[in-house]
Amino acid sequence: MVESSVFDRITEDRIVPVVIPGEPGQMEGLIEALFRGGLGTIEITLRSETAIDAISAATKQNNMIVGAGTVLSIEQAENAVGARAKFLVSPGFDPAVVGWARRNEVPITPGIATVSEAMRAISSGLHFVKLFPAEQLGGAKTVQAIGAVLPELKIMPTGGVTLKNLTDYLSVPTVGAVGGTWIAPADDIANGHFAKITERAKAAVALSLSR
Ligand code: 3PG
Repeated sequence: MVESSVFDRITEDRIVPVVIPGEPGQMEGLIEALFRGGLGTIEITLRSETAIDAISAATKQNNMIVGAGTVLSIEQAENAVGARAKFLVSPGFDPAVVGWARRNEVPITPGIATVSEAMRAISSGLHFVKLFPAEQLGGAKTVQAIGAVLPELKIMPTGGVTLKNLTDYLSVPTVGAVGGTWIAPADDIANGHFAKITERAKAAVALSLSR
């Protein structure tokens, strides 16, 4: 999938659920729950041993755009793309991982926490970055300040985003989307509480549409 279509879809949805996967067999129910809630993208983090299998399972459901998160090395990037992940997300900016993604034309959203890192992302040819950890870095005001000097960059604040502060973030013009684990926490996935996940997704989508 080309970079522009992935990021177009993410910025249309405005909310990317971040998931720490357990059993790959739970992915089908999870993806359906997110679809029912109005969401079409998901970031599955490589923070569990089952993550690559979970990505494979999730990508079987055709219309969901599945990305891999917490990508820390080229090897992890290769494994995620091998499992058919359509985009990569990192918590920080690693030039080796970003370079690999650029060479292989895989959409990547590296994490940034400073203006210098954001400028590095731009000079690497990127237009979409994750601000992490957003809330701890000062929240929506920090995103606003970075966006004011780098308006060409779309920012995805992640870390501490919930329904309570979602509107603050989505009000910032340079915010392309937000990411977070609050919609589909690991416990709810493990216990099959998919209706709760759908409800949280619906509530987030309703707020995002009111912006
Ligand atoms: C991530 O994986 O991107 C973050 O850990 C998500 O942060 P949150 O759990 O505060 O939403």
